[in-house]
Amino acid sequence: MKDNDAMLNVADVGYRVGETTILESVSFTLSPGEFRLITGPSGCGKSTLLKIIASLLSPTSGTLFFEGKDIATISPEAYRQQVSYSVQTPTLFGDTVYDNLIFPWQIRSKTPDPERLSADLERFGLSGDTLTKSVSELSGGEKQRVSLIRNLQFLPRVLLLDEITSALDEVNKRNVNDIIHRYAKEQNIAVLWVTHDASEIEHADDVITLRPHRSTQEAHRG
Ligand SMILES: Nc1ncnc2c1ncn2[C@@H]1O[C@H](COP(=O)(O)OP(=O)(O)OP(=O)(O)O)[C@@H](O)[C@H]1O
Ligand SMILES: [Mg+2]
Repeated sequence: MKDNDAMLNVADVGYRVGETTILESVSFTLSPGEFRLITGPSGCGKSTLLKIIASLLSPTSGTLFFEGKDIATISPEAYRQQVSYSVQTPTLFGDTVYDNLIFPWQIRSKTPDPERLSADLERFGLSGDTLTKSVSELSGGEKQRVSLIRNLQFLPRVLLLDEITSALDEVNKRNVNDIIHRYAKEQNIAVLWVTHDASEIEHADDVITLRPHRSTQEAHRG
């Protein structure tokens, strides 16, 4: 795939904090419907890379292009409706699961259908009654799925997923994988998924492996 056909183009992106290099010259492209995994040892910069792609952090070198435009020139609100990021440790807000799932509807001034929300919960292996549950009663794996369902209420063009199955059992992991693969295939959504999970890595078409890069400038030169 040529770079100019890509929806997202990560071009020589680097991230440094002081003298410490966290990411150096990361380049790849992502096209509609493409499903890619990112893996690599803990601390190698995977979440940092997703935050940069989500436009939550600015790279200290390199450029990101979305549909040919430098993302620094796109309004963050517009960009985040197209490129959605499911964080590694989800935060739920309000009192109930319902409060969380209606949030994407509220910011678009739309009215959600509670039956659809219950159906979404069931699709992800949660009972429809979960809708009225207090967020403080949810397990880690339940929180992960509610947060993911919240992000999928309005489909973005690019889904950035950061270890979203880390708290799930094998059956639920498989189910979430199947659903996300279907989104890529049927809705042409591009997926960039950070994982350490061996079976997820085995089933991916394309895996980007980040290497640890915590050298100082001097160490890097030497
Ligand atoms: N603002 C910052 N200042 C200093 N160091 C940072 C900053 N942000 C991230 N780091 C460091 O950068 C490295 C990469 O962090 P990151 O969270 O991207 O790793 P990761 O690959 O996602 O790890 P894990 O697999 O454990 O989630 C870590 O060593 C982290 O401590
Ligand atoms: Mg991480």
